[in-house]
Amino acid sequence: MKRLLQALSGEPVWPPPIWLMRQAGRYLPEYRNLRAETPDFVSFCLDPSRAADATLQPIRRFGMDGAILFSDILILPWALGRDLKFTEGHGPSLPPLKAVDEVRALDSAGFLTRVEPVLETIGLIRAELARKHPTTALIGFVGAPFTVACYMIEGGGSKEFAATRRMAAGQPEDFDRLIEVLTTTSITYLLAQIAAGAEAVMLFDSWAGLLPPSAFRRHVIGPTARIAAAIKQLHPGVPVIGFPRLAGTMVAAYGADAGVDAMGMDTASDPAVIDTLVPDGLALQGNLDPFALMQGGEVMERETRAILAAMRHRPFVFNLGHGVMPPTSPAHVAALVDLVRGG
Ligand code: CP3
Repeated sequence: MKRLLQALSGEPVWPPPIWLMRQAGRYLPEYRNLRAETPDFVSFCLDPSRAADATLQPIRRFGMDGAILFSDILILPWALGRDLKFTEGHGPSLPPLKAVDEVRALDSAGFLTRVEPVLETIGLIRAELARKHPTTALIGFVGAPFTVACYMIEGGGSKEFAATRRMAAGQPEDFDRLIEVLTTTSITYLLAQIAAGAEAVMLFDSWAGLLPPSAFRRHVIGPTARIAAAIKQLHPGVPVIGFPRLAGTMVAAYGADAGVDAMGMDTASDPAVIDTLVPDGLALQGNLDPFALMQGGEVMERETRAILAAMRHRPFVFNLGHGVMPPTSPAHVAALVDLVRGG
C-alpha cells in the first residue's frame, strides 16, 4: 500500500510520509508560467490538462508522497450557481448570500455536471501517477461546509466573518439550510472524486476556530461526521482527513466525534499536546510553520525535528500548519523533504 495511505489509515510509518498544503502554487516558477496562460483562475481550475499539470509539478520536483488535486474549495459554490471571481492581490469574491430564498435557489441538482472537468482532471492525474510516480497517492478535497458558508455569506475573505457568525446566531434555520445543502453536495462531490480516482479526501475547515463550542459541534463536527460516515459506508478504505483550523481545545471533541481517520494540526498547535487530546488511532498531520519553511536553514531544521520527535510514536503525516507562502524558495522545500526522509 502507498505509504501516505498507510499512515492515514492509522499505521505508524517511519520516516513519515510528506506532502504540503498549497504545494502547487506561486512559489514554483513552473506554476507561475502555467498560470500565466490562463489569467482567469476559475477557468484554470476547470482546465483538466492544466490543472493536472499543476497538481503534478511539485511531484515531479520533490517526489512528495501525496499529490493534492489542483482546484479550489470555492469551485463548489460556483458549481451551485454562485458567481465567483478571483482578482490578483485581492482573493476570491462572490455575491454575498443574504436570504433563505438564495439558499433555495442553489442548484444542487445541476452542480455535478459543472464539476465534470475536475473529475476528468483526477483521471489524468491518476494515469500519470501510475506511469511515473507509483508511490504517490492522490488526495481529493472539499471545503468543509462551515468554511464554504463563510465565503458564500461574506462574499469573499474576511478577518472576522461577522455576517456569517451573525446569520449562524440570528437566523439559525437559514444557516442550517445552507449547511445542509453544502453537506449533501459535498458528499456527492467527494464520492464522485473517489469514483474518478481520489485515494484519500480532505475537508478544509479553515475558519472552524471562529465558533463557540456549541456552534462548533453543530456546524463543524456534525456536518463533518455526516460526510465522513457517508464516505466510510461506500468506501471504508478511503481515508478522510479533517482540518479544523484554529479549533483550540475543540480538537478533543473533533478527534473523538467527527469520524475522520486523520486530523490536520494548524500552526498554533503544540503536537505533543494534541497527542494527548485525541484518540491514539487517529493519524495526525502537520504542522511546520510556513514561515519557518520560508526562512529555511537552522530555523526550519529545529522546528521540523521538534515535530518529528513529538510524533515519532504515532501514525503521522508531515505537512505544514497552513499553506506554502508565495515567497518561499523551492530549494527550502527540497531540503525539508530530505530532512523528513532522513527520519
Ligand atoms: O496545492 C494545493 O493545496 C491544492 C489546491 C488548493 C488551492 N486552494 C489552490 C489555490 C487548495 C486545496 C485550496 C484550498 C483553499 N482555497 C482554502 C482552504 C485552505 C486554506 O488556505 O485555508 C481556502 C480558504 C481557499 C480559498 C482561496 N483560494 C483564497 C482565499 C484564495 C486567495 C488567496 C491566495 O493565496 O491567492 C484562493 C486562490 C488560490 N487557490 C490559489 C491557489 C494556488 C492562488 C491563486 C493564483 O494562482 O493566482
